[in-house]
Amino acid sequence: MKNQAKKPLLQVLSGETLSPPPWWLMRQAGRYLSEYRELRKKAGSFLDLCYTPELAAEATLQPVRRFGMDAAILFSDILVVPAALGRQVSFRDGDGPSLEPLNEAGELGESFDQAMLEPVYAALRLVKSQLSDETGLIGFAGGPWTLACYVIAGRGGDFAAAKAWCKTNHSGLDRVTSILAAAVTAHLGAQIEAGAETVQIFDSWAGLLAGEQFRRWVIAPTKRIVGNLRRRYPQTPIIGFPRNAGALYGAYFAETGVDAVSLDWGVSLDQARALQTHGPVQGNLDPALLAAGGKGMEKAVRDILQALGSGPFVFNLGHGILPETPVGNVTRLGELLRGGP
Ligand code: CP3
Repeated sequence: MKNQAKKPLLQVLSGETLSPPPWWLMRQAGRYLSEYRELRKKAGSFLDLCYTPELAAEATLQPVRRFGMDAAILFSDILVVPAALGRQVSFRDGDGPSLEPLNEAGELGESFDQAMLEPVYAALRLVKSQLSDETGLIGFAGGPWTLACYVIAGRGGDFAAAKAWCKTNHSGLDRVTSILAAAVTAHLGAQIEAGAETVQIFDSWAGLLAGEQFRRWVIAPTKRIVGNLRRRYPQTPIIGFPRNAGALYGAYFAETGVDAVSLDWGVSLDQARALQTHGPVQGNLDPALLAAGGKGMEKAVRDILQALGSGPFVFNLGHGILPETPVGNVTRLGELLRGGP
Protein backbone atom coordinates (compact mmCIF):
# COMPACT_ATOMS: atom_id res chain seq x y z
CA MET A 1 0.00 0.00 0.00
CA LYS A 2 1.27 3.43 -0.83
CA ASN A 3 2.08 5.59 2.14
CA GLN A 4 0.55 8.91 1.19
CA ALA A 5 1.50 10.65 4.38
CA LYS A 6 5.19 10.26 3.66
CA LYS A 7 7.36 12.58 1.63
CA PRO A 8 8.68 11.03 -1.64
CA LEU A 9 12.30 10.96 -0.41
CA LEU A 10 11.28 9.08 2.74
CA GLN A 11 9.06 6.69 0.80
CA VAL A 12 12.00 5.68 -1.34
CA LEU A 13 14.37 5.41 1.62
CA SER A 14 11.90 3.00 3.21
CA GLY A 15 12.13 0.81 0.11
CA GLU A 16 9.34 1.99 -2.18
CA THR A 17 9.78 2.60 -5.90
CA LEU A 18 8.51 5.94 -7.19
CA SER A 19 8.14 7.12 -10.74
CA PRO A 20 9.39 9.74 -11.30
CA PRO A 21 12.00 9.29 -8.56
CA PRO A 22 12.67 12.04 -6.01
CA TRP A 23 15.79 14.13 -6.62
CA TRP A 24 18.25 16.44 -4.90
CA LEU A 25 21.88 17.31 -5.59
CA MET A 26 24.92 17.06 -3.36
CA ARG A 27 26.19 20.59 -2.67
CA GLN A 28 23.00 21.98 -4.15
CA ALA A 29 23.57 25.22 -2.24
CA GLY A 30 26.71 27.06 -3.23
CA ARG A 31 28.69 29.27 -5.51
CA TYR A 32 26.98 28.32 -8.80
CA LEU A 33 23.93 30.28 -7.49
CA SER A 34 24.06 34.09 -7.69
CA GLU A 35 21.76 34.36 -4.66
CA TYR A 36 24.24 32.22 -2.68
CA ARG A 37 27.18 34.42 -3.70
CA GLU A 38 25.25 37.44 -2.46
CA LEU A 39 24.35 35.80 0.82
CA ARG A 40 27.95 34.70 1.27
CA LYS A 41 29.14 38.29 0.79
CA LYS A 42 26.66 39.47 3.38
CA ALA A 43 27.81 36.81 5.88
CA GLY A 44 31.50 37.66 5.51
CA SER A 45 33.13 34.27 5.90
CA PHE A 46 31.92 30.79 5.03
CA LEU A 47 31.95 29.77 8.70
CA ASP A 48 29.94 32.86 9.69
CA LEU A 49 27.37 31.73 7.13
CA CYS A 50 27.34 28.22 8.66
CA TYR A 51 26.99 29.53 12.23
CA THR A 52 24.26 32.16 11.65
CA PRO A 53 20.96 30.26 11.73
CA GLU A 54 18.93 32.69 9.60
CA LEU A 55 21.60 32.82 6.89
CA ALA A 56 22.30 29.07 6.92
CA ALA A 57 18.55 28.41 6.68
CA GLU A 58 18.30 30.80 3.75
CA ALA A 59 21.23 29.10 1.94
CA THR A 60 19.55 25.72 2.55
CA LEU A 61 16.27 26.90 1.01
CA GLN A 62 17.65 28.79 -2.01
CA PRO A 63 18.11 25.83 -4.39
CA VAL A 64 14.80 24.24 -3.36
CA ARG A 65 12.97 27.47 -4.08
CA ARG A 66 14.62 27.88 -7.47
CA PHE A 67 14.52 24.27 -8.73
CA GLY A 68 11.94 22.42 -6.62
CA MET A 69 14.12 19.55 -5.46
CA ASP A 70 12.42 16.91 -3.30
CA ALA A 71 14.79 17.57 -0.42
CA ALA A 72 16.66 20.35 1.30
CA ILE A 73 20.08 19.52 2.76
CA LEU A 74 21.24 21.51 5.76
CA PHE A 75 23.76 24.16 4.78
CA SER A 76 26.80 23.46 6.92
CA ASP A 77 30.10 21.61 6.58
CA ILE A 78 31.60 18.33 7.71
CA LEU A 79 34.43 20.22 9.43
CA VAL A 80 32.19 21.72 12.14
CA VAL A 81 32.64 18.40 14.00
CA PRO A 82 36.45 18.69 14.34
CA ALA A 83 35.89 22.36 15.26
CA ALA A 84 33.58 21.28 18.12
CA LEU A 85 36.28 18.81 19.22
CA GLY A 86 38.58 21.78 19.70
CA ARG A 87 40.56 21.66 16.43
CA GLN A 88 41.14 24.99 14.75
CA VAL A 89 39.38 25.07 11.38
CA SER A 90 39.46 27.87 8.82
CA PHE A 91 38.39 28.31 5.21
CA ARG A 92 40.45 30.56 3.04
CA ASP A 93 38.76 31.80 -0.12
CA GLY A 94 39.63 29.70 -3.12
CA ASP A 95 41.96 27.55 -1.06
CA GLY A 96 39.69 25.07 0.73
CA PRO A 97 39.78 24.21 4.42
CA SER A 98 42.77 24.37 6.70
CA LEU A 99 43.16 22.75 10.14
CA GLU A 100 45.99 22.59 12.64
CA PRO A 101 47.67 19.25 11.88
CA LEU A 102 47.58 16.45 14.47
CA ASN A 103 51.01 15.20 15.50
CA GLU A 104 49.81 12.36 17.68
CA ALA A 105 46.46 10.78 18.54
CA GLY A 106 46.65 11.93 22.17
CA GLU A 107 46.34 15.56 21.02
CA LEU A 108 42.71 14.99 20.00
CA GLY A 109 40.52 15.51 23.06
CA GLU A 110 37.31 13.55 23.54
CA SER A 111 35.18 16.40 24.71
CA PHE A 112 32.65 17.40 22.06
CA ASP A 113 31.32 20.93 22.51
CA GLN A 114 27.81 20.37 21.23
CA ALA A 115 26.67 23.78 22.49
CA MET A 116 29.03 25.36 19.97
CA LEU A 117 26.96 23.75 17.20
CA GLU A 118 23.63 25.01 18.55
CA PRO A 119 23.35 27.50 15.61
CA VAL A 120 23.44 24.51 13.24
CA TYR A 121 20.50 22.88 14.99
CA ALA A 122 18.70 26.24 15.11
CA ALA A 123 19.13 26.52 11.33
CA LEU A 124 17.50 23.11 10.89
CA ARG A 125 14.54 24.10 13.05
CA LEU A 126 14.09 27.26 10.96
CA VAL A 127 14.23 25.32 7.68
CA LYS A 128 11.80 22.74 8.99
CA SER A 129 9.25 25.44 9.82
CA GLN A 130 9.42 26.76 6.24
CA LEU A 131 9.47 23.57 4.15
CA SER A 132 6.47 22.30 2.22
CA ASP A 133 4.81 19.02 3.18
CA GLU A 134 6.45 17.22 0.24
CA THR A 135 10.05 18.31 0.73
CA GLY A 136 12.39 16.18 2.80
CA LEU A 137 14.99 17.59 5.19
CA ILE A 138 18.46 16.01 5.22
CA GLY A 139 21.07 16.38 7.95
CA PHE A 140 24.64 15.21 7.48
CA ALA A 141 28.10 14.63 8.87
CA GLY A 142 31.44 13.44 7.55
CA GLY A 143 32.45 9.82 7.94
CA PRO A 144 35.05 9.23 10.68
CA TRP A 145 37.76 8.23 8.18
CA THR A 146 37.23 11.31 5.99
CA LEU A 147 37.21 13.56 9.05
CA ALA A 148 40.39 11.83 10.27
CA CYS A 149 42.01 12.62 6.90
CA TYR A 150 41.42 16.34 7.45
CA VAL A 151 42.19 16.30 11.17
CA ILE A 152 45.50 14.48 10.73
CA ALA A 153 46.77 16.10 7.53
CA GLY A 154 45.47 19.55 8.38
CA ARG A 155 44.39 20.36 4.86
CA GLY A 156 42.38 19.07 1.94
CA GLY A 157 43.87 17.24 -0.97
CA ASP A 158 46.95 15.90 0.80
CA PHE A 159 46.16 12.80 2.80
CA ALA A 160 49.62 11.26 2.86
CA ALA A 161 49.76 11.86 6.62
CA ALA A 162 46.53 9.91 7.31
CA LYS A 163 47.62 7.15 4.93
CA ALA A 164 50.91 6.92 6.81
CA TRP A 165 49.01 6.32 10.07
CA CYS A 166 47.30 3.35 8.36
CA LYS A 167 50.70 1.74 8.06
CA THR A 168 52.51 2.82 11.19
CA ASN A 169 49.99 4.00 13.77
CA HIS A 170 46.99 1.64 13.90
CA SER A 171 46.12 2.32 17.51
CA GLY A 172 46.39 6.08 16.95
CA LEU A 173 44.01 5.88 14.01
CA ASP A 174 41.64 3.66 16.01
CA ARG A 175 41.56 6.31 18.73
CA VAL A 176 41.00 9.20 16.31
CA THR A 177 38.24 7.44 14.34
CA SER A 178 36.52 6.35 17.60
CA ILE A 179 36.47 9.88 18.97
CA LEU A 180 35.19 11.19 15.65
CA ALA A 181 32.53 8.45 15.44
CA ALA A 182 31.20 9.35 18.90
CA ALA A 183 31.10 13.05 17.96
CA VAL A 184 29.39 12.29 14.63
CA THR A 185 26.77 10.19 16.46
CA ALA A 186 26.03 13.06 18.86
CA HIS A 187 25.94 15.59 16.02
CA LEU A 188 23.58 13.52 13.86
CA GLY A 189 21.37 12.74 16.86
CA ALA A 190 21.04 16.45 17.61
CA GLN A 191 20.19 17.12 13.95
CA ILE A 192 17.44 14.49 14.08
CA GLU A 193 16.11 16.09 17.28
CA ALA A 194 16.10 19.45 15.45
CA GLY A 195 14.03 18.09 12.55
CA ALA A 196 16.30 16.24 10.12
CA GLU A 197 14.23 13.41 8.61
CA THR A 198 17.17 11.46 7.25
CA VAL A 199 20.94 11.85 7.60
CA GLN A 200 23.76 11.26 5.14
CA ILE A 201 27.28 10.23 6.13
CA PHE A 202 29.77 11.71 3.63
CA ASP A 203 32.86 9.49 3.54
CA SER A 204 34.42 11.31 0.61
CA TRP A 205 37.86 9.73 0.99
CA ALA A 206 36.70 6.12 1.60
CA GLY A 207 38.27 5.17 -1.73
CA LEU A 208 41.77 5.74 -0.34
CA LEU A 209 41.46 2.52 1.66
CA ALA A 210 41.06 -1.11 0.60
CA GLY A 211 40.74 -4.54 2.16
CA GLU A 212 41.29 -4.75 5.92
CA GLN A 213 41.98 -1.02 6.21
CA PHE A 214 38.59 -0.22 4.67
CA ARG A 215 36.89 -2.62 7.10
CA ARG A 216 38.69 -1.21 10.13
CA TRP A 217 38.49 2.52 9.50
CA VAL A 218 35.48 2.95 7.20
CA ILE A 219 33.04 0.10 7.89
CA ALA A 220 33.63 -0.46 11.62
CA PRO A 221 33.23 3.13 12.88
CA THR A 222 30.31 3.74 10.50
CA LYS A 223 28.61 0.59 11.78
CA ARG A 224 28.89 1.91 15.35
CA ILE A 225 27.34 5.24 14.34
CA VAL A 226 24.49 3.49 12.52
CA GLY A 227 23.86 1.08 15.42
CA ASN A 228 23.75 3.85 18.02
CA LEU A 229 21.49 6.10 15.96
CA ARG A 230 19.20 3.22 15.04
CA ARG A 231 18.63 2.36 18.73
CA ARG A 232 17.61 5.93 19.54
CA TYR A 233 15.90 6.88 16.27
CA PRO A 234 14.63 3.68 14.65
CA GLN A 235 12.41 5.62 12.23
CA THR A 236 15.18 7.78 10.75
CA PRO A 237 16.81 6.37 7.61
CA ILE A 238 20.57 6.73 7.17
CA ILE A 239 22.30 7.17 3.80
CA GLY A 240 25.98 6.24 3.43
CA PHE A 241 28.29 7.74 0.82
CA PRO A 242 31.59 5.83 0.75
CA ARG A 243 32.88 7.70 -2.29
CA ASN A 244 35.09 5.70 -4.66
CA ALA A 245 34.64 2.50 -2.61
CA GLY A 246 34.41 0.54 -5.90
CA ALA A 247 34.03 -3.19 -5.31
CA LEU A 248 33.67 -2.54 -1.56
CA TYR A 249 30.31 -0.74 -1.93
CA GLY A 250 28.48 -4.04 -1.40
CA ALA A 251 30.33 -4.86 1.83
CA TYR A 252 29.77 -1.29 3.07
CA PHE A 253 26.02 -1.50 2.35
CA ALA A 254 25.57 -4.90 3.99
CA GLU A 255 27.92 -4.51 6.98
CA THR A 256 27.39 -0.92 8.16
CA GLY A 257 23.60 -1.35 8.21
CA VAL A 258 22.89 1.93 6.38
CA ASP A 259 19.42 2.09 4.79
CA ALA A 260 20.65 3.38 1.43
CA VAL A 261 23.91 4.10 -0.36
CA SER A 262 24.82 7.12 -2.45
CA LEU A 263 26.89 6.11 -5.48
CA ASP A 264 29.78 8.08 -6.92
CA TRP A 265 29.87 8.55 -10.69
CA GLY A 266 32.54 5.88 -11.12
CA VAL A 267 30.02 3.15 -10.21
CA SER A 268 28.75 1.47 -13.41
CA LEU A 269 25.01 1.16 -13.90
CA ASP A 270 25.35 -2.64 -13.80
CA GLN A 271 27.02 -2.46 -10.40
CA ALA A 272 24.43 0.11 -9.29
CA ARG A 273 21.63 -2.27 -10.24
CA ALA A 274 23.26 -5.10 -8.32
CA LEU A 275 23.54 -2.85 -5.24
CA GLN A 276 19.88 -1.91 -5.57
CA THR A 277 18.96 -5.51 -4.77
CA HIS A 278 20.23 -4.77 -1.20
CA GLY A 279 18.16 -1.59 -0.84
CA PRO A 280 17.63 1.96 -2.13
CA VAL A 281 20.44 3.62 -4.07
CA GLN A 282 21.08 7.26 -4.83
CA GLY A 283 23.14 8.82 -7.60
CA ASN A 284 25.07 9.08 -9.76
CA LEU A 285 25.33 11.62 -12.61
CA ASP A 286 28.86 12.89 -13.24
CA PRO A 287 28.86 16.54 -12.05
CA ALA A 288 30.96 17.42 -15.12
CA LEU A 289 28.08 16.25 -17.36
CA LEU A 290 25.66 18.54 -15.48
CA ALA A 291 28.11 21.41 -15.89
CA ALA A 292 28.39 20.67 -19.64
CA GLY A 293 24.63 20.19 -20.15
CA GLY A 294 23.13 19.48 -23.59
CA LYS A 295 22.67 16.10 -25.22
CA GLY A 296 25.46 14.42 -23.25
CA MET A 297 23.75 15.23 -19.96
CA GLU A 298 20.32 14.25 -21.27
CA LYS A 299 21.50 10.86 -22.46
CA ALA A 300 23.30 10.14 -19.20
CA VAL A 301 20.18 11.08 -17.19
CA ARG A 302 17.96 8.82 -19.32
CA ASP A 303 20.43 5.93 -18.99
CA ILE A 304 20.44 6.30 -15.21
CA LEU A 305 16.62 6.44 -15.03
CA GLN A 306 16.35 3.43 -17.30
CA ALA A 307 18.79 1.38 -15.25
CA LEU A 308 17.66 2.33 -11.74
CA GLY A 309 14.14 3.77 -12.05
CA SER A 310 12.37 0.43 -11.65
CA GLY A 311 13.65 0.00 -8.08
CA PRO A 312 13.97 2.22 -4.99
CA PHE A 313 15.99 5.14 -6.33
CA VAL A 314 16.82 8.77 -5.52
CA PHE A 315 18.30 10.76 -8.39
CA ASN A 316 21.43 12.70 -7.44
CA LEU A 317 24.92 13.54 -8.65
CA GLY A 318 27.88 11.23 -8.13
CA HIS A 319 29.65 14.00 -6.16
CA GLY A 320 29.04 17.68 -5.39
CA ILE A 321 27.87 20.16 -7.99
CA LEU A 322 30.70 22.14 -9.62
CA PRO A 323 30.78 25.91 -9.03
CA GLU A 324 30.93 26.61 -12.79
CA THR A 325 27.62 24.77 -13.44
CA PRO A 326 25.17 27.00 -15.38
CA VAL A 327 21.88 27.30 -13.46
CA GLY A 328 19.98 26.64 -16.70
CA ASN A 329 21.38 23.11 -16.76
CA VAL A 330 19.95 22.42 -13.31
CA THR A 331 16.56 23.75 -14.41
CA ARG A 332 16.73 21.48 -17.46
CA LEU A 333 17.69 18.52 -15.27
CA GLY A 334 14.61 19.15 -13.09
CA GLU A 335 12.38 19.18 -16.21
CA LEU A 336 13.91 15.95 -17.52
CA LEU A 337 13.35 14.23 -14.18
CA ARG A 338 9.74 15.33 -14.15
CA GLY A 339 9.20 13.62 -17.49
CA GLY A 340 9.73 16.65 -19.74
CA PRO A 341 10.65 16.15 -23.42
O1 CP3 B 1 25.19 19.87 -0.08
C1 CP3 B 1 24.93 21.02 0.36
O2 CP3 B 1 24.45 21.92 -0.33
C2 CP3 B 1 25.13 21.23 1.86
C3 CP3 B 1 26.33 21.86 2.24
C4 CP3 B 1 27.67 21.15 2.25
C5 CP3 B 1 28.87 21.88 2.19
N1 CP3 B 1 29.91 21.02 2.39
C6 CP3 B 1 28.98 23.34 1.99
C7 CP3 B 1 30.24 23.92 1.51
C8 CP3 B 1 28.01 19.80 2.43
C9 CP3 B 1 27.11 18.57 2.50
C10 CP3 B 1 29.43 19.74 2.53
C11 CP3 B 1 30.17 18.49 2.77
C12 CP3 B 1 31.64 18.49 2.70
N2 CP3 B 1 32.51 19.47 3.09
C13 CP3 B 1 32.40 17.38 2.26
C14 CP3 B 1 31.84 16.04 1.84
C15 CP3 B 1 31.33 16.04 0.46
C16 CP3 B 1 32.38 16.22 -0.62
O3 CP3 B 1 32.32 17.25 -1.29
O4 CP3 B 1 33.22 15.32 -0.78
C17 CP3 B 1 33.76 17.74 2.35
C18 CP3 B 1 34.95 16.88 1.97
C19 CP3 B 1 33.81 19.07 2.88
C20 CP3 B 1 35.02 19.87 3.21
C21 CP3 B 1 35.08 21.11 2.41
N3 CP3 B 1 34.26 22.21 2.60
C22 CP3 B 1 35.94 21.39 1.35
C23 CP3 B 1 37.00 20.44 0.81
C24 CP3 B 1 35.66 22.69 0.92
C25 CP3 B 1 36.41 23.49 -0.11
C26 CP3 B 1 36.05 23.11 -1.49
C27 CP3 B 1 35.06 24.08 -2.05
O5 CP3 B 1 34.11 23.63 -2.68
O6 CP3 B 1 35.27 25.27 -1.84
C28 CP3 B 1 34.57 23.17 1.68
C29 CP3 B 1 33.89 24.48 1.56
C30 CP3 B 1 32.42 24.47 1.31
N4 CP3 B 1 31.52 23.62 1.92
C31 CP3 B 1 31.69 25.35 0.46
C32 CP3 B 1 30.33 25.01 0.58
C33 CP3 B 1 29.17 25.69 -0.09
C34 CP3 B 1 32.30 26.48 -0.37
C35 CP3 B 1 32.48 27.65 0.55
C36 CP3 B 1 32.37 28.97 -0.11
O7 CP3 B 1 33.40 29.48 -0.55
O8 CP3 B 1 31.26 29.55 -0.15
